[in-house]
Amino acid sequence: MAVIAINCPHIQVQVVDINEKRINAWNDSDLDNLPVFEPGLSEIVKDVRNKNLTFSSNVEDAIKNSDMIFISVNTPIKKKGMGAGQASDLRWVESCARQICKSAKGHTIVVEKSTLPVRTAQTIKDILDSSKYNNSNKNRTFSVLSNPEFLAEGTAITDLVSPDRVLIGGDDIEAMNALKDIYANWVPESKILFTNLWSSELSKLSANALLAQRISSINSLSAICEVTGAEIGDVANAVGMDSRIGAKFLKAGPGFGGSCFKKDILNLVYLSEYFGLKEVANFWNSVVELNKWHQHRIAKLITKKLFGTLSSKKIIILGFAFKGNTNDTRESAAIQICKDLLDEGANLFIHDPKVEEKQIENDLQSKSIIKNKERNNQSTWTYIKNLNEAFCDSDAVVILTEWKEYTNINWKYVSSKMRKPAWIFDARSILNPAVIKKEDLNFWRIGDGLS
Ligand code: UGA
Repeated sequence: MAVIAINCPHIQVQVVDINEKRINAWNDSDLDNLPVFEPGLSEIVKDVRNKNLTFSSNVEDAIKNSDMIFISVNTPIKKKGMGAGQASDLRWVESCARQICKSAKGHTIVVEKSTLPVRTAQTIKDILDSSKYNNSNKNRTFSVLSNPEFLAEGTAITDLVSPDRVLIGGDDIEAMNALKDIYANWVPESKILFTNLWSSELSKLSANALLAQRISSINSLSAICEVTGAEIGDVANAVGMDSRIGAKFLKAGPGFGGSCFKKDILNLVYLSEYFGLKEVANFWNSVVELNKWHQHRIAKLITKKLFGTLSSKKIIILGFAFKGNTNDTRESAAIQICKDLLDEGANLFIHDPKVEEKQIENDLQSKSIIKNKERNNQSTWTYIKNLNEAFCDSDAVVILTEWKEYTNINWKYVSSKMRKPAWIFDARSILNPAVIKKEDLNFWRIGDGLS
């Protein structure tokens, strides 16, 4: 919405949320307190806030006065009931549609921005259509559009300023053109695509599924590299130069995370099963299964290299976010890998430049010092702020997020502090093996059959 506001000074953009605390944070005079960390965002908010971009919790008034409403709410995986573990929980989408139905005036274009299961637009339409049964407000009309978001965290602003494409799905050409006119203020028309509602909804799920599938593919190949003496960076480079394959999204790592990939694939799995497409469901499910297996594989490999036991061993974890440049830990590979290491009795010292201790506590479902009585050993984790002090007497360092600052570590100093034999595990392939090995450190990196 901030990018729309800065590119369309003639349009009033109002962001509303029932969560007042969040709205207050968006209105905070200290831009460091905005609820979302995203490079470039605070600069835009500074420019347009209280000009043509406002934040408020007065949802009803905002709906009444709007010509176009974007529904951008959370759609997490259902935890209970039908479709639990796979289908999206649409309760917030439904409640938005009901609120719009109740409060809108005249003609309103309703745009699905959240990532939604295919045919959700029909649910929204059905709810909005019910306004015709309300005698006091029979003159309201609605058009429903799908306009999925393709931005990635950490690069959200550049993705929005120069998108690969803008997708508008609908069946009302006037409404579709109205939305197109907004984007046309900064996006070339050739990049704005029109489809029907269902193609638009499915395209979003398909894009994420195909991206995640690429990562599971490259990670599966990284395991083959490690046992055959090949190097995954070289393999990715060689195959990526085939223009039919392309070079992007071929970086092996600890496994994909983030709020969307797993959720969207499981949505496809659910949809396929619902329509009796068992083989299709199995195919997509295997992408998620491979990702899970890969995370366990890394934890096992660390344990094996440290002589099969982590009991009383000190391991430094560098990075907890699901990727660099974000404080988001949702589905981060670090969560499963750390849990596995703790199960083996490790003492973890966890560092991340952006993730807070409380978040790690929530993700690991344990306080910073835990006792694993069941396995009759003790495992603990500690949050570290000052990295330099942490290396003392450590047995291993594991890089799980590709933060730039981890590429500038002084390995000579680190080596002087570690207990030998010491291991560096680079699950993001961001270090130079020669630099590490010359400091008498053992080195493993993802997909490197020679390290
Ligand atoms: C992803 C998509 O890239 C966006 O297009 C989409 O709009 C977004 O989901 C969404 O649906 O909200 P995001 O989750 O922010 O964006 O992050 P990505 O950059 O796609 O990375 C996802 C995961 O894959 C991360 O854990 C990352 O480390 C991993 N990854 C990515 C790799 O392991 N290797 C790669 O080559 C690329």
